[in-house]
Amino acid sequence: MPGAERTAQHDRQPSPVLVVRADGCGSRTGPRTERDDMRILVAYATRHGATAGIAERIAAVLTETGRPAEARPVEDVTNVEGYNAVILGGAAYMLHWLKPAVKFARRHRAALAGRPVWLFSSGPLGTDLVDKDGQDVLQSTRPKEFDELTELLHPRGEQVFFGAYDPEAEPVGLGERLVRHMPAAQDALPAGDFRDWDAIEAWARGIAESLGTHGRQPE
Ligand SMILES: Cc1cc2nc3c(=O)[nH]c(=O)nc-3n(C[C@H](O)[C@H](O)[C@H](O)COP(=O)(O)O)c2cc1C
Repeated sequence: MPGAERTAQHDRQPSPVLVVRADGCGSRTGPRTERDDMRILVAYATRHGATAGIAERIAAVLTETGRPAEARPVEDVTNVEGYNAVILGGAAYMLHWLKPAVKFARRHRAALAGRPVWLFSSGPLGTDLVDKDGQDVLQSTRPKEFDELTELLHPRGEQVFFGAYDPEAEPVGLGERLVRHMPAAQDALPAGDFRDWDAIEAWARGIAESLGTHGRQPE
């Protein structure tokens, strides 16, 4: 379907987000329910915040469905033992998943392999669904590390989402600074927020269903 494209979504406001306190414990308003003992972690690695926004939306959807979830940067998480399920996300740069996400997956592989895990990547920019080689953009931008991590963690699912890029934001690291100044980067890195909130929410709802009501897969 060459030339296929979708409309960028700039008009959506983020869903209310679970508040993560300084002590690392999520909190939310409203009465406690029987599901409050369930905890789902949405851990993420980000450079410029786009992936954090996706993680927060996923956590908000899970929480809205009665499965309390908290979005936290991987750097802040030392232990996943207290979580019933983990969703791990990271941005893709130069075909690779951000290193902190990969390191997190490797460091916690034993604990992660023992609980339901999902992976997501915040990747391609633009509105084209098919690249110049006729490949599905969401498949061709799958981070290189996903094969290894699939072997390691046996995730229940994985997903690539469109990302966001603000050329006015200060580059992070020398590599990003150099790439941004390459003439080819102007075409390869269209500016804008291309995050597909409908797709993100639908994916989160699918996870909620698969977790059942107690943060574990239904019997
Ligand atoms: C220098 C640079 C390189 C990028 N390389 C890739 C890439 O290889 N694959 C991809 O899917 N997206 C790539 N992107 C897009 C980012 O993954 C996208 O902007 C992402 O949503 C950023 O997430 P963050 O704000 O959480 O860091 C690149 C962006 C920049 C600025």
